[in-house]
Amino acid sequence: MRTRVFGRLGWPVSEIGYGLWGMGGWSGSDDAESLTSLHRSIELGCTFFDTAWVYGQGRSEKLLGQTIRSHPGARIIAATKIPPKNMRWPARADDTVDETYPPEHIREYTEKSLENLGVDVIDLQQFHVWNDAWTDDDGWKRAIDDLRTSGLVRAVGISVNRWEPVNVIRALDTGLIDSVQVVYNIFDQAPEDELFPYCEAHGIAVIARVPFDEGTLTGTLRPDSSWPDGDFRNLYFAGDRLGASVERAERLRPDIPAGMTMPEIALRFILANPDVATIIPGMRKRAHVEANLAASDGRPLDAAVAQRLRGHRWDRSVRIS
Ligand SMILES: NC(=O)c1ccc[n+]([C@@H]2O[C@H](COP(=O)([O-])OP(=O)(O)OC[C@H]3O[C@@H](n4cnc5c(N)ncnc54)[C@H](OP(=O)(O)O)[C@@H]3O)[C@@H](O)[C@H]2O)c1
Repeated sequence: MRTRVFGRLGWPVSEIGYGLWGMGGWSGSDDAESLTSLHRSIELGCTFFDTAWVYGQGRSEKLLGQTIRSHPGARIIAATKIPPKNMRWPARADDTVDETYPPEHIREYTEKSLENLGVDVIDLQQFHVWNDAWTDDDGWKRAIDDLRTSGLVRAVGISVNRWEPVNVIRALDTGLIDSVQVVYNIFDQAPEDELFPYCEAHGIAVIARVPFDEGTLTGTLRPDSSWPDGDFRNLYFAGDRLGASVERAERLRPDIPAGMTMPEIALRFILANPDVATIIPGMRKRAHVEANLAASDGRPLDAAVAQRLRGHRWDRSVRIS
């Protein structure tokens, strides 16, 4: 596993990290299987783990905490997220900061996450939604300052709303934010336009999330794929979105070099961008951990292939968390 530097914080992080949403809330999760997969990832050199309080209301954080305790010698970076007080994803343009991130809420949910993780300090605490209209509010700034000075968090990041990669730049201008987490994959290339150059210039670490477009870029979806009631993917792929996604994935197949899988090329596309500090594929199965972490072998993506992948950019604007 190769490492990269996590922005101005200077932390070495595995260039492929671990997304823990699925194991907290998606249908078909099995805690024993998730723990086996987390354990295997550490054996293979993974050091960056992304969870959130809302992923099973602490379930995912507790699985990560258990994993951390069973590897006392490993330097694991645990990142989690504060839900908005109104529990609404994504933030709406008219949600006020009092409805989402009043200072006492930031403190309360950090304490909940500390308890779920079973740690004294959270490496990276992130805002789970963001709206740049909240930037001028003093409350959230005071709250994160208190968390840092009282030693409850080491660093603070923002997880940007899906398909709104620049709705964070004003917050980054405050100098108080150490990292951004953004959807970036073969389809979602928009963060390259403004966000990545800004982050590069200011030493803000970039966490690339949703590398497989919630499953489309694994190549395993079918036009009639469905999930049990309550599974987020029913919303994400609602209406004609499943058909359009499968069609896009099929269009990609001819550009995948022989011997390479779709998940592998999806990760190699992101790895080819030095602006990204770490990628966090969602994984519950050990086989997925082994396949995905193997992509960190330093072999560059062929330039002609990379160029063809650029043509698969797909700009979308539906508001989904
Ligand atoms: N608002 C936010 O802050 C936000 C929103 C979305 C995501 N995130 C973060 O980003 C992470 C990644 O996004 P995601 O989990 O939503 O979606 P994703 O990484 O695009 O896709 C995850 C899906 O891909 C499957 N998969 C993984 N590796 C595979 C492989 N090699 N072959 C075939 N299938 C494979 C997983 O299966 P299994 O699970 O069965 O292994 C899972 O169904 C999340 O876990 C979370 O940490 C944050």
